[in-house]
Amino acid sequence: MGEHLAFHGTVIHSLGLSELEIIEDALMVVSDGRIVRLDKHIPKAEVPTLLESLSSPKEVRYLGRGEFLIPGFVDTHNHAPQYAQRGLGQSMHILDWLDKVTFPNEARFQDIGYAKRIYSQCVDGFLKQGITTASYYGSLHADATNILADLCLQKGQRAFVGKCNMNRNAPEFYRDASVESSLADTEACIRHIRKIDPEGKLLKHVLTPRFATTCDPELLKGLGKIASENPDLPIQTHFNEAEQEINFTKTLFPEFKNEADLYESFGLLNRRSILAHCCFMTDYEMDRLKSLECGVAHCPISNMTVGGGFMASPIRQFLGRGIKVGLGTDSGGGYSSSILDAMRQALVASNAREVASQGQDRGLGISELFFLATLGGAQVCCLDDKIGNFEVGKEFDALLINSGTPGIMTMLEDWDSTETIFDKFIMTGDDRNIDQVYVRGRLVKS
Ligand code: GUN
Ligand code: FE
Repeated sequence: MGEHLAFHGTVIHSLGLSELEIIEDALMVVSDGRIVRLDKHIPKAEVPTLLESLSSPKEVRYLGRGEFLIPGFVDTHNHAPQYAQRGLGQSMHILDWLDKVTFPNEARFQDIGYAKRIYSQCVDGFLKQGITTASYYGSLHADATNILADLCLQKGQRAFVGKCNMNRNAPEFYRDASVESSLADTEACIRHIRKIDPEGKLLKHVLTPRFATTCDPELLKGLGKIASENPDLPIQTHFNEAEQEINFTKTLFPEFKNEADLYESFGLLNRRSILAHCCFMTDYEMDRLKSLECGVAHCPISNMTVGGGFMASPIRQFLGRGIKVGLGTDSGGGYSSSILDAMRQALVASNAREVASQGQDRGLGISELFFLATLGGAQVCCLDDKIGNFEVGKEFDALLINSGTPGIMTMLEDWDSTETIFDKFIMTGDDRNIDQVYVRGRLVKS
């Protein structure tokens, strides 16, 4: 790359759950995709001389009023093959929705041409929404999953890409033929990503048992073995999503009292595990997630549509216990591919939970939602040493926000403080306010 970038203006990022840092007149310098300087309160007039002395970038982008830089959004839970089915069957319960809408749709990804077309639109669509990192479930097809990985690399999105494992309780036309073929396809996908991105600059394979009901114990065991032999690979599954799903899981695995014990016994719970939903959680299971250092992908939109978890997900309790939490669009169970929408729905769900818990589980504030969408997501993906905020040394995954575009966010007033402008963007902005998207310093949307 060898490229230098410099920005002068407002920079906003999270230092922690309730620590939002707003830096005015910041000077940010990026070199080879990495943040090399972040100076605070540098008068605009001093920028040229300062940069001259650094002998780095000559071009500076000066941000005007209403413009600011934020870290890229992290989508910790997303189904790439559901991109074209977003919004369908939103009144159904999870297992019926899988049977009637999702499995027939995902089966189409057998067709390579179809996979290329939809996955290309999917990656473009998420980059447009400012999602610089996504943890993707693929379909069960190895070839289509490799195409998704190729596209993420070409288009410059940081991604976890997983071939979905499922060999039972799915129609014959859409399930892995055997435990052996499911594991062999997984190994092939792992090799493919290691070949196209040998240093893992952008991509990782993510082990993706869809959930326990669609996986034989032998398959879960095989995936646990791959996980233990490959300590660099993340793991993702659906966890305590809905009562319908939990009850079915219990009938299939009567030897386990809960899903935490189930997945742990197969070697699938550790600090690299990303557990989607976590709606119905006992104290015991929360303790297990904390001890095992698992992360939660909170998917507030699908929880309140196909998931049936409604406002049951105890996010405030997870945060209080120090469990890692990020946000997921869960696109297509979630109807939206915008993390801003997920943030707003997380706020609504948390308010509902506050009422239902008689004030015990306090609702989430805007800076907390922003943390979940950025640094929290990075922690869940164990990428917080690389991304999530603008600490010097991290990679430059960033969004240039323009909240002043007339006709889009019309309610920007002369007297609004930066904090007010930020709050308005989070609650009322959309992708039209995201002017530029960078991943590792590469401009991937402008
Ligand atoms: N559980 C198993 N598969 C899925 C899926 O595709 N979406 C959701 N929301 N839950 C699931
Ligand atoms: Fe999901």
